[in-house]
Amino acid sequence: MNPGRQTAGTERNIARQRRFWTRRAASWDHGAGNNPALLKVVERVLAEADPSAEVSAVDLGCGSGQVTLALAKRCRTVLGVDVSEQMIALLLANAERQGVSNVTGRAVPIERLGLSENSVDLVVSNYALHHLRDKDKQVAVNEAFKWLRPGGLLVVGDMMFGRGADARDREIIGSKLALFLRQGPGGWWRIIKNAGRYVIRFQERPISMSAWVAMFARAGLIEVKAIPVVNEAAVVRGTKPRLATDGVPFPETSLTTER
Ligand SMILES: C[S@@+](CC[C@H](N)C(=O)[O-])C[C@H]1O[C@@H](n2cnc3c(N)ncnc32)[C@H](O)[C@@H]1O
Repeated sequence: MNPGRQTAGTERNIARQRRFWTRRAASWDHGAGNNPALLKVVERVLAEADPSAEVSAVDLGCGSGQVTLALAKRCRTVLGVDVSEQMIALLLANAERQGVSNVTGRAVPIERLGLSENSVDLVVSNYALHHLRDKDKQVAVNEAFKWLRPGGLLVVGDMMFGRGADARDREIIGSKLALFLRQGPGGWWRIIKNAGRYVIRFQERPISMSAWVAMFARAGLIEVKAIPVVNEAAVVRGTKPRLATDGVPFPETSLTTER
């Protein structure tokens, strides 16, 4: 990634994410597999990625490996990338325990990951990119485009909602409010806490599904498809065009939203 683009804000965010996730690594590792909504997103990311045995893949913000390890059982190799060394240590320990030997890990922020152009077939990310600043999300998508071989696939699963600009945002915000209100004083406190986080966008910076689709298209990805999964979670996927010199014509960019 171009070092000139890394502002002090990006550096502060990287340091904050590293501190936060290093503290939470063990509890995330323990609890991630027990969250039914998250499992549905993982399942959909894997279904969209649908790798064959020859595929080399990268998982951005891999955590302790719930997507990385499932992918590794179906691909040639998977590189797990995470800002927290603690997460990478857990990823490698989990790989060893499960007898998975084709996983490597790198403790490096996504914003500083430098991979060779046209070097991987698949880039995935699950519930990690909303932690990046908005401009860094676009840079990450642009970089993933470069790393992918022609015909390669980018699949992002994440919480995807904005600040109420479109109907889906308003539906998500309304259903969260209704849920918290029903919970009594504990829920009211969650409304205040979430409203603060939502306005300040300190730790989490989700953007809408349509904003993700637009970022994919701006990076040059084609056949971009957005799939709402559960609650605020959605998956967006797109393909790097094959080279015209391969004798395969450039397909038209098509944007599809599935319900
Ligand atoms: C909610 S967890 C998801 C982990 C994993 N993808 C999963 O599905 O279980 C978010 C992960 O993103 C990582 N992360 C956050 N910001 C990052 C950054 N800038 N670069 C790399 N990893 C980051 C965190 O360390 C954490 O492991």
